[in-house]
Amino acid sequence: KSIVVLISGNGSNLQAILDACASGFIAGQVTAVISSKADAYGLTRARDAGCAAHSLSHQDYQNREDYDSALQQLIERYQPDVVVLAGFMRILTASFVTHFSGKLLNIHPSLLPKYQGLHTHQRAIEAGDSIHGCSVHFVTEELDGGPVVLQAKVPIFADDDAETVAARVHEQEYRIYPLVIRWFCQGRLQQQGNHALLDNEPL
Ligand code: GRF
Repeated sequence: KSIVVLISGNGSNLQAILDACASGFIAGQVTAVISSKADAYGLTRARDAGCAAHSLSHQDYQNREDYDSALQQLIERYQPDVVVLAGFMRILTASFVTHFSGKLLNIHPSLLPKYQGLHTHQRAIEAGDSIHGCSVHFVTEELDGGPVVLQAKVPIFADDDAETVAARVHEQEYRIYPLVIRWFCQGRLQQQGNHALLDNEPL
């Protein structure tokens, strides 16, 4: 299976996915990594793993529609079975999301539907939550609103700050994202409207 990964930064989730492909845990390969930022460290990870690495800056495009249509064309070169957002910090147009509907996955650092958007760890701490986590979901037009496939929970302790919580959440992200991609590449996972199905059972 062909996996295209979109990033904007460090790419530690990308690394977990690359490692899972290399070990055979995921029956697929990352055929391309595309970053919205030219200096993203994830591009180095991609090159080190022998993947095609591209950067696509919004500064080279007039508007969101033009950017997303260039992004779509670049992705299509790799004929992906699945397109994986891993810390890709841009909102995607409805047309892009519709084009890749059913094969577009994202990981979000909260227990959705809680804390959509940014600064999720800080918000969970400020709300006094004792449980926090991360979610892998199919992407729909609704930002951070698509059907959830898998979540992992972590505790928040009294002496935590956003950084210590983020580190704890990251460890779980590196477990659940490769697992969901494994299921997808095995043909076990599907999106049906606002539902995710595993082995034809609603999740
Ligand atoms: C992760 O926490 C992910 O949940 C969020 O962005 C972060 C990306 O980190 N969407 P990395 O680039 O994979 O290290």
